[in-house]
Amino acid sequence: MYKFIINGGNKLEGCVSISGAKNAAVAIVAATILCDEPCVLENVPDISDTAICAKILHEMGASINYTNKNTILIDTRNIKSPVVPLELARSMRASSYFLGTLLGRFHEAYVPMPGGCDLGDRPIDQHIKAFDHLGATHEIVNGTVHVKADMLIGNQIYFDFITVGGTINAIFAAVKANGLTIIENAAKEPHIVDLANFLNSMGADIRGAGTDVIKVRGVEYLKGISYGIIPDQIEAGTYMVAAAATRGDVLIKNVIPKHLESITVNLRKMGVKVEEFDDSVRVSVEGPIMKNNVKTMPHPGFPTDMQPQLSTLLTIADGTSIVTDDIFDNRFRYVGELRKMGAEITVKDKIAIIQGVDGLKGAPVKATDLRAGAALIIAGLCSEGITQIDDIFHIERGYECIEEKLQAMGADIKRVYCQPMDSVAITG
Ligand code: EPZ
Repeated sequence: MYKFIINGGNKLEGCVSISGAKNAAVAIVAATILCDEPCVLENVPDISDTAICAKILHEMGASINYTNKNTILIDTRNIKSPVVPLELARSMRASSYFLGTLLGRFHEAYVPMPGGCDLGDRPIDQHIKAFDHLGATHEIVNGTVHVKADMLIGNQIYFDFITVGGTINAIFAAVKANGLTIIENAAKEPHIVDLANFLNSMGADIRGAGTDVIKVRGVEYLKGISYGIIPDQIEAGTYMVAAAATRGDVLIKNVIPKHLESITVNLRKMGVKVEEFDDSVRVSVEGPIMKNNVKTMPHPGFPTDMQPQLSTLLTIADGTSIVTDDIFDNRFRYVGELRKMGAEITVKDKIAIIQGVDGLKGAPVKATDLRAGAALIIAGLCSEGITQIDDIFHIERGYECIEEKLQAMGADIKRVYCQPMDSVAITG
């Protein structure tokens, strides 16, 4: 299996270009099931989650042609069955999107309960609620969700709490339903707007994406288009924090600064210099990193997907910080790994109290999920000595060429293969 070996202490300098947004790409690839013609998707991140989504479509009968590693021609017209293959679907959360798209096209779907990062219980009751409101019935048999509808009829859907996946699946089920669907208490993430733009470019009628009320008027036909996916705000934020943690000076290109606002505001509060340009931001540090109290919120608040990364920066800030993340049951599983590197963090329920230390020390650690893995890379980059990160498959689900991008900015990071039970000798 592969590990990252990082020799910490190098400042990140120069520039990095951000790839397409993972959470937009997985939704848009799934959305091609609703399209009545072939589609070309551009700026698709070359990561395992998007590859698995495309593989699922291919196994179901779609034709998938990569014109390059970031551009895919997808034709789903040959998909005849609403059954998603078990093994692939269980590996990620985004497989839940096949429920909404297959229901929207075939009025039926069989999808295994989704997998994805282990952040605690991740039910799909709100997704099911949306489908039920549009006229579907559902059952879960042997871990497979079966939804079915004689007809999908537009209706009002009010989510009990904000859910990104629930909002996306409600749009999928409504886009070809009869009549008007009003989705209230909708999530407002940039990738929901990107998905709505993709579907509207094909001829859908979706209004209000990016606000908490989204109106979807059903249409009969969605034409094929070429569509470029937005840049990944979380990948960009990860490199912003890495630049700050190494006290570097980095230009992060191909971003939408508006999508980074909550990250920029919090970094500036911590004494980090962030300069915004049309499609890039420059991050540098002159003085000390200062403490900060942060609570994760749905967009436009500070994203939970940036919490492990920012918390890592806070471990070397001056003073004590408090981080609250109650969006998931347990988004602090990485804290034990940071403690091995000398971080002083205590977690009680969904609140972390972080006492800044002078510096971290390299150690052998393990990625527990995607963003936790990114946080451990940041910790390794700013540590003294060598850090070995196991289970990097988590990281490769969501970050395209992360070691190459970091190497280009001066990081001493290598991706090495180790036989299971091998441990790379850690030398100081
Ligand atoms: C999406 O997950 C993202 N994943 C997550 O990113 C992200 O952390 C999350 O949104 C919040 O922004 C993808 O887009 C593939 P939710 P999702 O539905 O849709 C609970 C990453 O690192 N809930 O907004 O699963 C749920 O358990 C990943 O890129 C229900 O209880 O998030 C969670 O506690 C990690 N019932 C909270 O709501 C439901 O029916 C928010 O979940 C749905 C959700």
